[in-house]
Amino acid sequence: MAEKRDDSSQGAGSMDDTPLMRELTRDHARRRQLEGVEFTAPESTRIITIANQKGGVGKTSTAVNLAAALSMGGLHVLVIDADPQGNTSTALNIEHHAEVPSMYEVLVESAPISDVVQDVPDMERLQCAPATINLSGAEIELVSLVARENRLRNAIRDHLEDRAARGLPRLDYVLIDCPPSLGLLTVNALVAAREVMIPIQAEYYALEGLTLLLNNIDLIRQHLNPELVVSTILLTMYDARTRLAAQVAQDVREHFPEQTLEATIPRSVRISEAPSYGQTVLTYDPSSSGALAYRAAAYELNTRPAP
Ligand SMILES: Nc1ncnc2c1ncn2[C@@H]1O[C@H](COP(=O)(O)OP(=O)(O)OP(=O)(O)O)[C@@H](O)[C@H]1O
Ligand SMILES: [Mg+2]
Repeated sequence: MAEKRDDSSQGAGSMDDTPLMRELTRDHARRRQLEGVEFTAPESTRIITIANQKGGVGKTSTAVNLAAALSMGGLHVLVIDADPQGNTSTALNIEHHAEVPSMYEVLVESAPISDVVQDVPDMERLQCAPATINLSGAEIELVSLVARENRLRNAIRDHLEDRAARGLPRLDYVLIDCPPSLGLLTVNALVAAREVMIPIQAEYYALEGLTLLLNNIDLIRQHLNPELVVSTILLTMYDARTRLAAQVAQDVREHFPEQTLEATIPRSVRISEAPSYGQTVLTYDPSSSGALAYRAAAYELNTRPAP
């Protein structure tokens, strides 16, 4: 009997090195590390655009879940949905049918952001400026407008001033979710922000297309927004069991050693299910590895010095 038990514990010992065990150990450590942590407010409002013209890499999931994690950490956060698909608005359970005042009115009709923001249900300190289907027309309507690339930048500046004038708490983060294109909506988002965060899906074609995005960011820096920096890269849909994911992660870290967060977001069914319940993964399944990963990423983002 005793011998057998020794055998099995030895077996378990060698199991320590499987990806699953590593994941569980890491989740456990993360849970303890993140228990009850309060996030320190940044010195000034950080405006971060989440961009990648490649579709389905996790931009929206990242915007929504980072925003939730930051606000649950005690910070004031505004998420701007700059994608006519309105996925961010859906995920945050924000009404956004065609009649709802949205980023369309802000960008095309110069409505103040405060006229369109909505409180995210059951989340303190978190607001969302929604996107409706109308925003799909903005891409074309913006072309003929004055200062067409600066409209979001000006709207955010006015909004921050307006909040201060009304004695409302300063926003700590403004996160802007972009559509999967490099059109005028994304340009507006890149002109409005100080920082760009690029979610990269840990798969084979990950780095393809990144050059195009980086070239666009360079152009915007040269002509429209000299302060813009790619501050953060986040590996998403990371499957620790595949060698490919590890290889892609290594490549990304070699290219962007300063920018790439230590935290990676695992492929997680919970993350993809949460939006259909109008919830973020943080409230839908707080102890899931997806929720923990987004909390760890938010903590890391907030702890690293802002550019
Ligand atoms: N870590 C993850 N694990 C599993 N599924 C995920 C994960 N992150 C995102 N997804 C799912 O993958 C799909 C694409 O994600 P998401 O909408 O966040 O990407 P996106 O870059 O915003 O897409 P788009 O370019 O269309 O705006 C969604 O169905 C989402 O639920
Ligand atoms: Mg999206």
